[in-house]
Amino acid sequence: MKKEKQKLAILGGSPTIKSKRSHYQWPKITKSIEKAVIKQLYEGISIYDKSGIFERFEENFAKYHERKYALLCNSGTTAIHSMFVAAGFKQGDEVICPAYTFFATVTPLLFVGAKPILCDCDENGNIDPGEIKKKINSKTKGVVITHMWGIPCQMDEIVKICKKNKLLLLEDCSHAHGATYKSKPLGSFGDLAAWSLQGLKNVSGGEGGVLVANNDEFYYKALLLGHYNKRCKQEIPKTHKFYKYAITGMGLKYRAHPLAIAIAYNVFKDLDAYRKIKNKFALKIIKELRSINGLAAPKIKSGVTPSWYALVFQYKKDKFQDLPIEKIFSAFQAENLTEVDRPVSTAPLNLLPLFQSPEELFPVYKNNLFSYKPGDFPRAENFYHNAIKLPLWTSKKDAKMVAMYIKGIKKVIKNYRKLL
Ligand SMILES: Cc1ncc(COP(=O)(O)O)c(C=O)c1O
Repeated sequence: MKKEKQKLAILGGSPTIKSKRSHYQWPKITKSIEKAVIKQLYEGISIYDKSGIFERFEENFAKYHERKYALLCNSGTTAIHSMFVAAGFKQGDEVICPAYTFFATVTPLLFVGAKPILCDCDENGNIDPGEIKKKINSKTKGVVITHMWGIPCQMDEIVKICKKNKLLLLEDCSHAHGATYKSKPLGSFGDLAAWSLQGLKNVSGGEGGVLVANNDEFYYKALLLGHYNKRCKQEIPKTHKFYKYAITGMGLKYRAHPLAIAIAYNVFKDLDAYRKIKNKFALKIIKELRSINGLAAPKIKSGVTPSWYALVFQYKKDKFQDLPIEKIFSAFQAENLTEVDRPVSTAPLNLLPLFQSPEELFPVYKNNLFSYKPGDFPRAENFYHNAIKLPLWTSKKDAKMVAMYIKGIKKVIKNYRKLL
C-alpha cells in the first residue's frame, strides 16, 4: 500500500491530489467586493476627474506609500509609460533596465525613444547593483528596477548608485504590492513607481495600474499623458506652464475603469492581512525546499519583507543526474499539482525578438542602435530556464493545500531516478 502511494502518478501511481481542477483563486470575490461593485455600478461607470472611488483609492495608496500623489491608470503598462514620460526620458538617453523582468517594464521605453541598457540579475532574479554600476555613462539618465516575484531588490546599493550618479530611479512594483525594505514600503524609494493591478497581482481589479510620485511636475506630465481635460483642469494649477494643455493633454487616454478600481480598492484594504498569511506559507515552503538538495529557495535577507506574487524556486539539474526540468515538471503535473508552473512569458528580454531587432517596429532604433541576443545575460537565462513557480495561498484554511503541494513535490523529488 505504502509502495503504491509512493509510485509516481506519471508512472501509473495515484496522484498526490485527487482533483485536477484549479486549487487557487485570486482575487477572492468576497461579499464586500460584490457590494462595492454593485454600489459603483449605480454610482457611475466612468469617472472623469479625481473623485469617488478613484479619489479614495489614490489618497489611500499615496499615503500607504508615503508619497504625495497616486494616479490610477487602465493598466500597469500605461502606468509605466506614464512614468517614462514624466521622467522625461527621450531619444539619445540611456536607461538601465533589468534583463529579467516581464517585458512591459521596458517596452514603454521604446515609445519615448530612449535606449534600454539591460543588466543581468542576482540570485533572486533581481537586477544586480554591481552590473548597474558597470553600465553607467554620460548618456545614462535613469535606472528602472522590478522587484521580481515580490522580493525587494538590493535597495541600499541601488539608491546609493542612483544618488551618486544623479540618476532617476523608477520602480516597477507590479509583483510586490505592500513589500517593505528596512520597514520602508517599496515604491517609496524611487522618483516614480508603478504597479499593475491586473489578474493575479497582489492587489487586483482584473485590469488596472497605478503610479506614485512626489514631484509636482512629474505628476502633471503623467496627468497630461493620459488623463486629459477634467482631471488636468482640476489638478494642474492655472498658473502652471502646462495648464494651457489641459483640454487635450498629450492626447492619450489611460483612465481606469471604476468597477475595476472598486474591486482593487477592496483587495487593497485587506492587503496586509493577505500578505501575512502568504508570508507564513512562503516561510514554510522555503524551509521544506531548503531540506531538498537540488532545489534552491529564494534568499530573503533580514529587514526585508517580500510581498509574494509567487514563490519561484530553482531546479538544479546537476543534482538530479541531469534529469531535464521538463521531466520533473511533467511529474509534478501528473501529481495534479495544477498550480505549479514554469513562468514562460516572463523571460530575459534578450531572448525576445523585440529586443533583438526592434527597428522594424520602432524605426527610431535603426542603424542597430541596440540589439540583444541569447547568451548576453547568462545569470538571467539560467534563472529563467530553471525557474519553477508556486502561488501563495491567502487563507489560513489553505494550510492543507500547501501541505499537499509540499508532499507532492517531495514525492517526485524522492523518486526522480525513476524518471531518468
Ligand atoms: C513586472 C510587471 N510589470 C508590468 C506588468 C504589466 O502590467 P499590466 O498587465 O497591468 O499592463 C506586469 C504584468 O504582468 C508585470 O508583471
